[in-house]
Amino acid sequence: MTEPNQTRFNQEATNWDSNPSVVLATELAVKSYLPLCDPSLDILDLGCGTGLLSLLLAPHVRSVTAVDSAPGMIDVLAAKLSLSGSHQNAQNVLPVCALLEDPDDGRLQINPLTKAPLANGAPAREFDLVVSHLVLHHIPDLAAVFKTIFGLLKPGGKVAVTDFEDFGPEARKFHPESKMDGVERHGIKREDIRKIIEEAGFEGVTVETAFELSKQVESEPGKRDIENGWTMVFPFLICSGTKP
Ligand SMILES: C[S@@+](CC[C@H](N)C(=O)[O-])C[C@H]1O[C@@H](n2cnc3c(N)ncnc32)[C@H](O)[C@@H]1O
Repeated sequence: MTEPNQTRFNQEATNWDSNPSVVLATELAVKSYLPLCDPSLDILDLGCGTGLLSLLLAPHVRSVTAVDSAPGMIDVLAAKLSLSGSHQNAQNVLPVCALLEDPDDGRLQINPLTKAPLANGAPAREFDLVVSHLVLHHIPDLAAVFKTIFGLLKPGGKVAVTDFEDFGPEARKFHPESKMDGVERHGIKREDIRKIIEEAGFEGVTVETAFELSKQVESEPGKRDIENGWTMVFPFLICSGTKP
């Protein structure tokens, strides 16, 4: 991840959950992820932010390893998990601050249920499902990240990621011009992402429209009038595949 991205997400972490379109996008995305969940699954949420998606999926899986490279985001998630009485179902969430580039990253070598480090020499943890929401458009090298995800999965494990679609020049309006730091692309292109996931080694790759998000936008790029009622509908894709 690039330096502006890291700085931006640290700064935004404390107010992240008060952005209504972020919360709504997660609520819509959960509907796509739930059919893939099962109480026997160990999942990893790549770029979990403050854990909005992780905490909604946690009651439906065995464990969630919630990974984000921005310490500010992980601090907010850790604070939510430490609040006694809330998130009762979330003792199975393990927050990890890491820029995930290596499937054998030592920071993942923790039992997500007991929070105890794995014994020296234990095999690297492998996951049944890797999810990631609203992250791909911030990743400089998509081919590298899907190779990392491939390495994180058990044979037969699945990847499922959601992000907005690059449907043309208007997709740029997803972000106000003042928030372009760390935006690597204006959404994902169907055929590009399919090829990248297949080239990482996945089989049965599907790229489908998952939902549409209505979002306030600037009337013109850089106009800074996002509160003035202009809205646009952004299609979101769910991209999935299975490790043979
Ligand atoms: C737009 S935010 C989305 C956060 C969360 N998924 C949500 O929907 O609320 C993107 C997040 O991805 C994280 N990120 C980007 N690349 C990453 C990587 N390679 N490893 C871990 N986190 C990453 C950023 O720090 C940031 O918190």
